[in-house]
Amino acid sequence: MLQKNYILGIDTSCDDTSIAVMNAQTGSVLANVVSSQIAVHAPHGGIVPELASRAHIENLTSVFETALAQAKISTENLASLAVTKTPGLIGCLLVGTSFARGLAYRLGIPLYGINHLHGHVLSPFIGIEKIPYPFLGLVVSGGHTAFYKVSAPTQIEMIGHTVDDAAGEAFDKIAAMLGLGYPGGPVIDKLAATGDATRFKFTPVKVKRGEEFMSFSGLKTAAYLKLQNLDRSDAKIAADFCASVQAAIVKQLCDKLAYFARSQDFKAFALSGGVAMNSLLRTESARVCRDLNLNYFCARPEFCTDNGAMIAHRAYLGGLEDESNSLATLGTKKIPLQRK
Ligand code: KG4
Ligand code: ZN
Repeated sequence: MLQKNYILGIDTSCDDTSIAVMNAQTGSVLANVVSSQIAVHAPHGGIVPELASRAHIENLTSVFETALAQAKISTENLASLAVTKTPGLIGCLLVGTSFARGLAYRLGIPLYGINHLHGHVLSPFIGIEKIPYPFLGLVVSGGHTAFYKVSAPTQIEMIGHTVDDAAGEAFDKIAAMLGLGYPGGPVIDKLAATGDATRFKFTPVKVKRGEEFMSFSGLKTAAYLKLQNLDRSDAKIAADFCASVQAAIVKQLCDKLAYFARSQDFKAFALSGGVAMNSLLRTESARVCRDLNLNYFCARPEFCTDNGAMIAHRAYLGGLEDESNSLATLGTKKIPLQRK
């Protein structure tokens, strides 16, 4: 008998085209194919939305075929589809949701519209059977930096966030000032390993709106001003600067982690998003959790940056409505699609 046993997860929200296949019974990942657009955007020093949408259109079919081939399944084995519907770049989201909607119609299977950030915040638990609710989640990426109280897959409450830039944006922009290319986070991480983090001082950030908020744009300005009087081509200066900037970003995130961990009774802390790849953030946040006696989880590297597995995983956890006939993309009017 034909086994309809798999969830297809699709993410085209930003600059990665990704499709994953997950076992709908066990939650195990059979394929997680990511086509990165770094080469498309690097010459521009950041993501160009129109180029991103076009690259998704060009890549989506081959990413889809590769994912099915890696998982050794055909479309007939799919039980449901999950696609990022928000937040993200509007043109990019439309590519993914249109593709998913067409596929759901053709196959006659449910389609779940997923909040990308909910995918991220739950991603440390991909492949883990029992999630320790309520947990404190930190999603830290190029577009978002926020803490969440997660009480259930359907009960995800944002409890604190940056009032301006995301931490990843600070990494990327400061790396650009140093002429280190895009994306800057991984390069800063690497150079910082040989640098002296105490050499350049950055004033600790205090956001007037309240303890639960963060800010990273002041750090960008401070870095810019400091760099005016420095020789950026000096390898030692660059390494020390990277180490100092990284330490300032990680300190702000870890101070907030300690603040939130003390404010409520959480069963665990879970770190996710592209910046969760940062080596100092991983070790420091783990240390804070150890000191506070809080269980620590961190997304596996392949599930930190944008990926389809976390989208399929959110659908796997359940509690969502089938939107195959009405996927209300990006706040537009629902347009019912009649099946024959
Ligand atoms: O989650 P993601 O792929 O995209 C968004 O949804 O934004 O995150 C990309 C971000 C970029 O800003 C990149 O510089 C940062 O993650 N990043 C890192 C590291 N690896 C990626 N930041 C610091 N250290 C890293 N090792
Ligand atoms: Zn993301």
